Amino acid sequence: MHFTTTFSKFSLLVVFALHLTSGQLLTVEYSSVTLPFPESSVRTFYSTGDKIYLLGGDFEMSSGIWSFSISSDTVEYVTAMPGRGSRGTVQSDTAGNIYYLGGGNIGTSNQVYKFDPTTNECTLVATLPLDVQDCVAIKYNETSDTVHIFGGDGQFIDILTFDLLQFNTTSQVDVLPVIVNQGTGVRVGNKAYIFSEGQVENTAVLELDLDILRMMAVGPANLPSITLFPSSVYDGRHVYLIGGYAPSNMTTPIDGLIQFDPVSFNNEFIPVANFPVEGASYFRVSPATVYVPDLNRIYFFGGSSFNYTTDEFKIHDEIFYIDLDPLTPTSRSTDDFGCEGRMDGLYPHPTNCGMYVACRNHEQIVFNCEPDRQFDPITKTCKFGTPCV
Ligand SMILES: *[C@@H]1O[C@H](CO)[C@@H](O)[C@H](O)[C@H]1NC(C)=O
Ligand SMILES: *[C@@H]1O[C@H](CO)[C@@H](O)[C@H](O)[C@H]1NC(C)=O
Ligand SMILES: *[C@@H]1O[C@H](CO)[C@@H](O)[C@H](O)[C@H]1NC(C)=O
Ligand SMILES: *[C@@H]1O[C@H](CO)[C@@H](O)[C@H](O)[C@H]1NC(C)=O
Repeated sequence: MHFTTTFSKFSLLVVFALHLTSGQLLTVEYSSVTLPFPESSVRTFYSTGDKIYLLGGDFEMSSGIWSFSISSDTVEYVTAMPGRGSRGTVQSDTAGNIYYLGGGNIGTSNQVYKFDPTTNECTLVATLPLDVQDCVAIKYNETSDTVHIFGGDGQFIDILTFDLLQFNTTSQVDVLPVIVNQGTGVRVGNKAYIFSEGQVENTAVLELDLDILRMMAVGPANLPSITLFPSSVYDGRHVYLIGGYAPSNMTTPIDGLIQFDPVSFNNEFIPVANFPVEGASYFRVSPATVYVPDLNRIYFFGGSSFNYTTDEFKIHDEIFYIDLDPLTPTSRSTDDFGCEGRMDGLYPHPTNCGMYVACRNHEQIVFNCEPDRQFDPITKTCKFGTPCV
């Protein structure tokens, strides 16, 4: 017991020293609102604008869709899904519809639900030939309607390719060199970077070439062993891995982000102050994550943690974000609107009617409307055909 205490104090000092030398200090900022229920395995979707969609989960949120408003810090119920959605994956087509891949009752996870965010309708559109729970799903490219689904309970080393418009599938059997399961991954150009249970032996990042569907390990084999459910985001430069590993060896701390560089293949631990788990507590199921480019923030929702000291699981309901600006040497230039002295609310952008400004506590956040829409100052929404003034 004494040894453990001393050891963790020592590692805190090391982390603190890192902050001082690098001058980089990322901090968790908690939202004033929480999820409607404590929840793990929520799936997120974000494209542009103010809304982050939250789909499904392991418990009370498992058959519904909610939305989180970044500017007003509120969570709203949107609609029910046709069935349960737990540990599936989310993708979108080029028309802007959102798909939950892996819905179904307990024991089945082969249904595809289509959610149209313009009508808020959610329907069952396809049944896949395999269960796709705990899979990774990666679109071929940004403007493609083809998704590769792989890993997971039903197809450890197979790849199922699904067409989001025609709902047909093609499967390729035995194509992955290692078992991928309960993993996470992001697309960077025509490659996908995967972190999963399959890495327990080699602890390196897995790269999947989306053109030829070949997977290999890249970079140093120095990641912590991923044993559970991590999550990941891509900010256009780096991939960030969050959670999914236990603090057994204390080589990689728990309270921060692992930053992976898809150019050099190196990775680095970035400590984060105020992180919801630390020391002997870690995220078994990482919070759902999403990167919001306009704000350069990663948003986090819920998750489930285990505390070695108390031997207790905790399902989280926190919503929080990490601003990545301190990692960028020159800060983003912000348009000079000025929320000083203004009431909280949404205002037209001074020079671009396809954008708007949210003021909160006298701080400004600039948002883009969805493509081809303009901000309407009367209804305070982005609409088609609003005249630009
Ligand atoms: C994306 O994939 C489609 C084929 O699905 C192709 O026609 C298009 O050129 C690709 N776009 C980019 C940016 O590579
Ligand atoms: C779906 O069908 C279309 C046309 O029939 C074909 O071009 C496409 O490759 C198919 N997609 C998949 C994923 O099988
Ligand atoms: C990490 O700790 C586990 C026991 O908790 C041990 O079996 C394993 O060998 C350790 N790994 C390293 C790299 O020290
Ligand atoms: C884990 O449990 C210990 C003992 O109750 C507590 O002091 C610590 O704050 C807990 N850790 C977290 C991250 O909740």
